[in-house]
Amino acid sequence: MKLFGNWKMAQSRQGAQSFAADASGYRPDPLVESLIFASCLQIPEMMERLKDWSFGAQDCSAELPGPYTGQVSAREISEFGVKDLLLGHSECRAAGQSEELLKRKLERAKEASLRLCYCVGESLQEREEGRLWDCLSRQLENLENCSAEFCIAYEPVWAIGTGKTASLERIAEVHLWIQAKFPKVPILYGGSVKPENSAEIMGLESVGGLLVGTASLKWESLEKILELASLEAQKRRQRAK
Ligand code: 13P
Repeated sequence: MKLFGNWKMAQSRQGAQSFAADASGYRPDPLVESLIFASCLQIPEMMERLKDWSFGAQDCSAELPGPYTGQVSAREISEFGVKDLLLGHSECRAAGQSEELLKRKLERAKEASLRLCYCVGESLQEREEGRLWDCLSRQLENLENCSAEFCIAYEPVWAIGTGKTASLERIAEVHLWIQAKFPKVPILYGGSVKPENSAEIMGLESVGGLLVGTASLKWESLEKILELASLEAQKRRQRAK
């Protein structure tokens, strides 16, 4: 079971330090892969404070290192000991990242041996106009010949930060459809995940983990989701025996 947090640009330095202080006693469950995608500025300090945790970057440049003011290269990310990268988040797509640009970012990530969490998801308009599968097919195309290690996060845009979670039927329907295309790839769900709804979402067989935004900012809510992820991981291990 994967439990990934995405702090976006929403975590202050003080907030990150409080998180680290509160989480310092936690010993990660080997059955739950926990990781936080943090701002590149916060990652080194977080890695120092929470040595048992993994931290990933939220984006990388599509360019090789060179004269690109304001960008962060995949190579630099890996030089800091970071192994994971989030790509294709709908907030980055909304800010203008095209499939073509994401394809180049994927190449840079592969060269730097970064593992990817690649996000896909439809807008409300796309869903209402019956373009869900077209949208997902287009967004997943870049992964078809991708030789980097990756997992996929399905995050319907209309569920992100809105308090509206997709119904279990909808999540299962989309996850099974993605799974048919990428049979061996773990598929995470993201979009208004919180302690109250996380157990039932993780209870779906096709859900390989969660990508949590707002509820990952504070240790008290992430800890609850981590405990539920451990329970679900144990159930799955029992069933597999
Ligand atoms: P929320 O959990 O705040 O809806 O954010 C989800 C998300 O975008 C994670 O990448």
